[in-house]
Amino acid sequence: MIIAANFKTFKTRQETLDYYRDVKTFIEKNEITVETMIFPPATALNTFKGKTVVGVQNAYPVANGAYTGEIGLNQLKEFGIETILIGHSERRHVLGESQALMVQKFNFFKEQGFTIVYCIGEPLEVREEGNEALMAYLDAQLEGIDLNYEDLVIAYEPVWAIGTGLTPSADEVELIHTALRQKIKSPILYGGSVKVNNAKELLALNNVDGALIGSGALQSENYCRILEIAESIK
Ligand code: 13P
Repeated sequence: MIIAANFKTFKTRQETLDYYRDVKTFIEKNEITVETMIFPPATALNTFKGKTVVGVQNAYPVANGAYTGEIGLNQLKEFGIETILIGHSERRHVLGESQALMVQKFNFFKEQGFTIVYCIGEPLEVREEGNEALMAYLDAQLEGIDLNYEDLVIAYEPVWAIGTGLTPSADEVELIHTALRQKIKSPILYGGSVKVNNAKELLALNNVDGALIGSGALQSENYCRILEIAESIK
């Protein structure tokens, strides 16, 4: 079971340090064994010491170079970062990144041996077309991605469930995860409005191997409560 928190464009460097410390204390005190990951903004990267893996929300697929506004491998190496989110819906749909760029990032960071949390998810209009259209949409987001990569984690995050307080029903989540499981051996996380009050139901579903959480994990207390829930059902 993996419980990951995506801070998006929230939290300063100091707030991230405080969060990391709170989580570390909680994990040690409560002997939490579920895998924990956090994705702070790039400005808050640091050399963290603890069990919780710190990953980057995005990076450009180069070691360094003339790519204004981006960070590359060398900036990540400085902090020992070896985990990356690729394909988050906000990068695809808000920042307009193409599947070709996702594949380029995937291949570059795979080559570097990174753990890759690769996100997929459909917008509402696709879901409304039915399951066949939905699966075809997800398949297109997996195109060009090596699903046998050993350090791959998939995060299924329906776009319409992100930051809205809406989630698919438990049956719908299980159906999609089970369909994905037919082609993916890696852990499959669910993301999209996971909160303390729905984590138990979602994490207990077949083929849900954890969660990728935004707003519901922005407070370290909430993240820790979700860790406790995950620990109780893993
Ligand atoms: P919310 O948990 O705020 O819906 O965000 C989910 C997400 O995008 C995590 O990557």
